[in-house]
Amino acid sequence: MAKILLEMRDITKTFPGVKALSNVNLQVEEGEIHALVGENGAGKSTLMNVLSGIYPYGTYEGDIVYDGEVCKFNKIKDSEAKGIVIIHQELALVPYMTIAENMFLGNERGSKYRIDWNETNDLAAQYLEMVGLNEAPQVLIKDIGVGKQQLVEIAKAMAKSARLLILDEPTASLNEEDSRSLLDLLLKFKKEGLTSIIISHKLNEVSYVADKITVIRDGCTIETLTKGVDDISENRIIKGMVGREIEDRFPKREKHIGDIKMEVRNWTVHHPVNFERKVVDDVSINVRKGEIIGISGLMGAGRTELAMSIFGKCYGENISGQILIDGKEVHMNSVKEAIKHKLAYVTEDRKGNGLILSNSIKINNSLANLKAISKHSVINRDEEYAAAIDYKEKLAIKCPTVEQQAVTCRRYCLQNGCLPNLIY
Ligand SMILES: Nc1ncnc2c1ncn2[C@@H]1O[C@H](COP(=O)(O)OP(=O)(O)OP(=O)(O)O)[C@@H](O)[C@H]1O
Ligand SMILES: [Mg+2]
Repeated sequence: MAKILLEMRDITKTFPGVKALSNVNLQVEEGEIHALVGENGAGKSTLMNVLSGIYPYGTYEGDIVYDGEVCKFNKIKDSEAKGIVIIHQELALVPYMTIAENMFLGNERGSKYRIDWNETNDLAAQYLEMVGLNEAPQVLIKDIGVGKQQLVEIAKAMAKSARLLILDEPTASLNEEDSRSLLDLLLKFKKEGLTSIIISHKLNEVSYVADKITVIRDGCTIETLTKGVDDISENRIIKGMVGREIEDRFPKREKHIGDIKMEVRNWTVHHPVNFERKVVDDVSINVRKGEIIGISGLMGAGRTELAMSIFGKCYGENISGQILIDGKEVHMNSVKEAIKHKLAYVTEDRKGNGLILSNSIKINNSLANLKAISKHSVINRDEEYAAAIDYKEKLAIKCPTVEQQAVTCRRYCLQNGCLPNLIY
């Protein structure tokens, strides 16, 4: 048996009103790829944040034993000094800085008084080559796609001499091709001796890349499955995640599809800055009552732009085409008008566009539909509270109270109380 590089013993972590982790145990062998899986809110990110010192020693119970030594990390720099490097669920790159600047942010090359840009760029180029990214270190982050940004994150981690690399949902926003090359890169690093922990909801990827899979459910460790020993099929992993046998993953649903509710005809949208460029080109869709329509395409294909431009033209310039609701043409030139026509939009970027993070769940819940809880322009606080409780229950939002700030409730995806508007 290979050497145990990391052992997390009986980790318990509590947030006000939420026990995120309860006596969690994790053992990672040197040189393996260890996957951490579990449903949303199971506690995966929290466990990794404990490991990397984001939640400092003393704010959790239990022990972290790394390389045979009990570690008491007080900050992220402490864990990085040991070669534990985490790439977070949401990328943390600065869009208007170059690849090289981002890679050495907080880890600057040069002396105390000046940054050595030649060294910074040369080193960046070396690490970019290591991860197979063919971009100049001087290119701005905003000018490269998400797939490449993820590689920059990995290059950045390697520049910190990572020995244990933690990747929190690294392929969540990547297309299949970029995901596969990222996983292959991990396998290549594994051959060179790197140990990694990968969190993912994509179970086919987990089965492809992982040597071991630890399942977490409701803040507890359920089991660790080993490739080549245990069954690591998707169905088997899901069984561990949800705690019961899934007989039919795609049960037949009864459909009640009615008449055409909304029609989008010849919808064309131009880029907001580069006016010449068509971002959406002559798209037409019919949506029937009770129907769920999927819009698919690769990153950059214009899916979000289509949705945002339909929703009160909140994206794009020089928009042409028609929208009909119940057979009648409607003009929605603002978000307010779109809401008036009972459209709701759950944004891709929850934190940036969807929620006011510093406000409570309750306030976010009612924001898009204040009329429903107001009389003569005065908000009825009791009704606002009751509406929030109602949706907390309907959507099973995990939070001790709806007065809690939205920022602390990670999977709160009810966006700005749009839901009441969704129900025609
Ligand atoms: N800063 C915080 N304050 C309060 N509660 C939190 C905080 N961070 C996480 N939680 C709660 O702890 C639990 C575990 O969250 P965590 O983000 O670790 O889950 P996860 O397994 O990473 O989920 P996902 O797959 O959705 O990323 C959830 O109930 C979440 O709401
Ligand atoms: Mg997470």
